[in-house]
Amino acid sequence: MQVHKHDAIIIGAGGAGLMAALYASKGGADVAVVSKLYPTRSHTGTAQGGIGAALGNLDEDKPIYHTYDTVKGGDYLTDQHAAKILAENAVDAVIELEHMGLPFDRTSEKRISQRRFGGHTRNFGEQLVRRACHAADRTGHMILQTLYQQCIKNEVSFFDEFQVVDMIVVDGVCAGVVAIELGTGEFHIFHGKASFFATGGWGRCWSVTSNAHSLTGDGAAIALRRGLPLEDMEFFQFHPTGIYRMGILITEGVRGEGGVLINSQGERFMERYAPNAKDLASRDVVSRAIYLETRAGRSIKNRGYVHLDVRPGTVNRYFAEEGRDRGDFIDDATVERKLPDILDFCRTYLGVDPVKEPMPVQPTAHYAMGGIPTNVDAEVIIDAAGNVMPGAYAAGETACVSVHGANRLGTNSLVDLVVFGRRGGMKVAEFVKGADWVPLPSDAGAEIRAEFDRIRGGSGSSRPGELRAKMQATMMDNIGVFRTEETLQQGISDLAELRERFHKDLQIDDKSRVFNTDLMEAWELGCLLDLADVTARAAFERKESRGAHSREDFKRRDDENWLAHSLVSHDGNLASPSYAVNFDKKVDLSLWEEEIRQGLPEDQQKFRPKERVY
Ligand code: FUM
Repeated sequence: MQVHKHDAIIIGAGGAGLMAALYASKGGADVAVVSKLYPTRSHTGTAQGGIGAALGNLDEDKPIYHTYDTVKGGDYLTDQHAAKILAENAVDAVIELEHMGLPFDRTSEKRISQRRFGGHTRNFGEQLVRRACHAADRTGHMILQTLYQQCIKNEVSFFDEFQVVDMIVVDGVCAGVVAIELGTGEFHIFHGKASFFATGGWGRCWSVTSNAHSLTGDGAAIALRRGLPLEDMEFFQFHPTGIYRMGILITEGVRGEGGVLINSQGERFMERYAPNAKDLASRDVVSRAIYLETRAGRSIKNRGYVHLDVRPGTVNRYFAEEGRDRGDFIDDATVERKLPDILDFCRTYLGVDPVKEPMPVQPTAHYAMGGIPTNVDAEVIIDAAGNVMPGAYAAGETACVSVHGANRLGTNSLVDLVVFGRRGGMKVAEFVKGADWVPLPSDAGAEIRAEFDRIRGGSGSSRPGELRAKMQATMMDNIGVFRTEETLQQGISDLAELRERFHKDLQIDDKSRVFNTDLMEAWELGCLLDLADVTARAAFERKESRGAHSREDFKRRDDENWLAHSLVSHDGNLASPSYAVNFDKKVDLSLWEEEIRQGLPEDQQKFRPKERVY
């Protein structure tokens, strides 16, 4: 196997990976980015509506308000010091992106323009605030292009279309990773002092998802198989507005510009569920409301979708009712200018023109709040006490720095990428200066090679496509927006059967080596099955409702018993693992504790867990 040696190996070339690569290289490290996609095709490019930062360009705003919203939006499972870092660093990070050349939209005073997004408020929930800095509805795309250019300028090495399939752990230290070069099928070893996972999420576990086909959770699955726990896996966010049946994201920015959700009775139903924030309540609340409308027989044509209406006539009517400033009113040209990609998607895929007709939308599996546990410097944590695995780092959606708690606010994924990608990159630069090279074991890569031989050589009767469809269906039906003990048990047993077939009865059609997508997709299916399984197990064990985890048999949030992070690990037996789930990792409540130290009475404690919105 060819061996490549670099101080830092960054796995994944989305926003978190590129930011980490940039800052590690700025700090003097020799950095290689290894990515299964060309960097500019990474999923960060699909983030649409904006990146949150309390710039206060249009409304009065402060990082402490952003911190509060992040903690409250996360249903108090958010680690409070991480939220503070996120909100404070967001301001610098956005200015830095602007200085790198990111073409943000502008206000009439030529400042960065900002729009409303769900759950973002000023003065601790008093009123929605314009905080999402945007470049039309292509904000993630612009971030990706900007960071890629900066990495090229900084002479980061790129290994594009190299898919990382294993990590090399020697005596508890991460010494690098194993990758397959997709164009040749050859295995390569990347020997590094630091390996940084930024491989994104695993929305492909579900049948309706906003996630690209590449979002198969490779990094998290590899970590799990190498003995690392995964944190808070039961919390997977459904974005309320995916295109009906396709799942493609329709940005929350549509509602930020005034768009409203309408049921089959023509009713703006969010007024009932969240009288203050209405359509811009947090995503868990809106997704649940759409499901409840469907159950009550009020979805459009009884087909499980509702309408998202951004036609200027509709929007302006509601604005007038709310007594909004006439300057906020929109016309066709505003919609065309501010939401060009959304219009394009709807016109292309649905033949629906959102300027003239409402869009059919349903909740779509969107974002993993859980993942590889890390501290705020992106170092990978191996236990509830916060001990780290030297040489292992993670950031972005594959990681769980516990900043999103039980439910992420819109725009905070992009903030997470740039803030914790940057902090992680700096930490890596510092680490590699002092760290020794860990010699590679003589059999490095042998185990994963054998696993690929097994998949390629299988002569069973189960095809990956069939197993994938069944997994996605059971996840959608049983481990979706609402869960019960019964549905979770059903999901767990379906997944066990699928796993058994995957390991004992698989066959793929393409046995070749060059660009064998059949082989790679089969391996990715194994990752998805592992992550689906841990999601179901953690969801089964958490007997309360919190954020995106809504148990119909345990409807209340229960801070007394469950204000804790879950850690799930398995015993290393890939075919039929047994799982351990513990809730020993405490939630960081430092901001609330600080309020108590200051002697604030209960009704003035902003960071104290408050009543959940059902
Ligand atoms: O709705 C959106 O534009 C998505 C943003 C996000 O997930 O943060």
